[in-house]
This record gives sequence, C-alpha cells and structure tokens, in this order.
Amino acid sequence: FQPKALAGKRVLITAGPTFEPIDPVRGITNRSSGKMGYAVACAAREAGAEVHLVSGPTALATPYGVMRYDVTTAVQMHEMVMSLVSGQDIFIAVAAVADWRVANASNQKLKKDGSGMPVLEFDENPDILASVAQLDHPPYCVGFAAESENLLQYGEEKRLRKEIPLLVGNIGHETFGLDENELVLFDEKGNTRLPRADKQALARELIQAIAKRI
Ligand code: C5P
Repeated sequence: FQPKALAGKRVLITAGPTFEPIDPVRGITNRSSGKMGYAVACAAREAGAEVHLVSGPTALATPYGVMRYDVTTAVQMHEMVMSLVSGQDIFIAVAAVADWRVANASNQKLKKDGSGMPVLEFDENPDILASVAQLDHPPYCVGFAAESENLLQYGEEKRLRKEIPLLVGNIGHETFGLDENELVLFDEKGNTRLPRADKQALARELIQAIAKRI
C-alpha cells in the first residue's frame, strides 16, 4: 500500500445517476446513489491526486479537496467531461449513465386532460467512456460494469468492446445505495477479485490497483 500513490496525477471521475426530463416536473433516472463514485473520488484525493468529479444528482457531500461539477442529463455529463478531459492522467467512469433520453420531452407539464396517454420517444445518449477512450491521447480509462449474470464473461467482453485497459465489475447484485460492494477487476492479464468490503475500502484498493498499472 502506497499512501501517496497518485501524487501529481490528475484524475477525472463521473459518479451518480443521470436524470432525463420528460417534462419540467418529471423524468427518468436510475437507482445509483453515487456512493461508489464518491468513494473513488475520496480515495484518489487521499492518494495525492488532483480530483475532478462530474456528478449527476445525488444527496452526497462533496469529498474534501475534490472539485465537483454538477450535471443533470447524460448529454450535460458528456459535455462537461469533454471540457475537462485534456490534461487528465486517469478517467474513471463510475456514473450510471442513462442509455436513452426522451426525444419528445415537453416544455410544459403534461396534463391528464383526457386526450390520451403520452407516448415517449427516445434517442440514444452518447457513451461518455467510449468517447474518452477513443481520443487521440486518452487518459488511462477505467470503466465500471453492473451485470446481473455471467459477469466473468461479459466483463472481459465489455473491456474489449470499450477499448479500455481496466474494467471493474460489481459482483454484488444489489449494490445500489448500499455501503458495501464486491468487485472484480478485468485487465489484459485476466481478472482479480476484491472481496466484499465497504465501498470506501474497495475504492482505496482500486486506486492502488490503478496506480500500479499506470
Ligand atoms: O455499457 P455499459 O453502460 O454497461 O458500460 C458501463 C460503463 O460505461 C460505466 O463505466 C459507465 O460509467 C460508462 N458509460 C458512460 N456513458 C454511457 C454509458 C456508460 O460513460 N452513456
């Protein structure tokens, strides 16, 4: 364990869910609490890095010494990440980004006025991690994956598809909002398990694992 393993490094992290509006008072989101991403931000800062945290809506406090940029939608998260990415050494995508946004979101609150039920149409959101990984000089990219089955197979497939050196799989099926998790790291050499522990402890182990690889 190296206490200042990321000294002098700049780390960009996404965390939390995104929120995709349907109308001014309604929207689509997911059950990500942001806890894992915030724990990673905290651990990176503890390890001596300059940390930039792009966060979807969460109820969490900003970790000490971390620069936080609040966004709501996936498109905003993508724009914010792209504006911050140059000069970053490491990019860790922990956010649970919505795959789709509502294409026909309404500027006014939808009314139950007897004219029938609203029909939502969707557009695909940008893949933030893939866009960063495809840059000419990308930072060291780390992705997260929550799979409900066949994690060992899908994890490695996803790492290759996203063209990233390190992918972190959540083994805990229901990790949303909980303080504990269990992870498996996939890299070009194979996979390594990080046994069940609280998210802060796992985040510290992950930061050490990243520091060893860069
Ligand atoms: O493809 P999937 O959504 O399972 O990939 C998960 C990984 O990709 C996570 O690291 C997540 O933060 C990132 N991601 C992203 N932008 C998206 C979708 C996923 O950065 N639109």
